[in-house]
Amino acid sequence: MVYSDIVMDHFKNPRNVGEIKDADGVGGVGNPTCGDMMTITLRIKDNIIEDIKFKTFGCAAAIATSSIITEIAKGKTLEEAKNITRANVSDELGGLPLIKMHCSNLASDALKKAIDDYEKKINK
Ligand code: FES
Repeated sequence: MVYSDIVMDHFKNPRNVGEIKDADGVGGVGNPTCGDMMTITLRIKDNIIEDIKFKTFGCAAAIATSSIITEIAKGKTLEEAKNITRANVSDELGGLPLIKMHCSNLASDALKKAIDDYEKKINK
């Protein structure tokens, strides 16, 4: 399997790793088939993703997709962030092997779940 240089860079030097304490939104997802797990935490101010961090237990592609989605989403409005697709994630990484496309699903699903969590809290 061949990963792009961008995937390898994000795998070896992942951006925004960790967890935001008292996060405004938390989204955790897992893939039952491969067992990979990912959690995204958000700090939101004035409808903008001010900070975003991830923790991923998974393959190289899962780590790279988590890392790049934090870069894509940071500074975006919630509406813009909700429209980030797995294709956006894979394109930004210079493509993913077909067998690894589900890893980019995990990243976009975790982000959407974290935004949902935030919106549920503020709409209580
Ligand atoms: Fe399942 Fe990468 S192999 S998320």
